[in-house]
Amino acid sequence: MKKIALVLITATMFAACSDDGETTEGATTEEAAVVEDESSTKMEDGVAKVDLYSSDQMKYDKNEITVPAGSKVELTLTHTGSMAVEVMGHNFVLLKQGTDLVAFTTEAGKAMDNGYVPAGSDAVLANTELIGGGGSTTVTFDAPEAGTYDFICSFPGHYALMKGKFIVE
Ligand code: CU
Repeated sequence: MKKIALVLITATMFAACSDDGETTEGATTEEAAVVEDESSTKMEDGVAKVDLYSSDQMKYDKNEITVPAGSKVELTLTHTGSMAVEVMGHNFVLLKQGTDLVAFTTEAGKAMDNGYVPAGSDAVLANTELIGGGGSTTVTFDAPEAGTYDFICSFPGHYALMKGKFIVE
């Protein structure tokens, strides 16, 4: 009797999981395949096209982006998750060299109304808007001079995991 009950519970749980998880699971696998294909910067008519993915796991899919000096950059940030912007919002913020990340993100944390990007900050070279699960946003900017720059997500607490190097060479 006990055994039957257990089996039933397991079956119910399994059904619940696959019902709930099927679409998400499928989407994630598909997205992962896309990420694999689009991992490098593509040049099109002097424009460096960069696809950056972010997730409900508070992560970017890459921690290094390289673009040629003198190019225009068209960066598209996609949020492959499903969580709301208020809880798992992501953006891409490219920072001037020498920016103190702790000081900057502290300031950014106060700028909720501006997508966590301090208005008029001279530390910001380029940024996207803040997006939630299922969202996508593109920013176009001129690559800064050759060198290595930090990029982060400025949503409070995210930069610890969501940061990388933006290399212009
Ligand atoms: Cu984020």
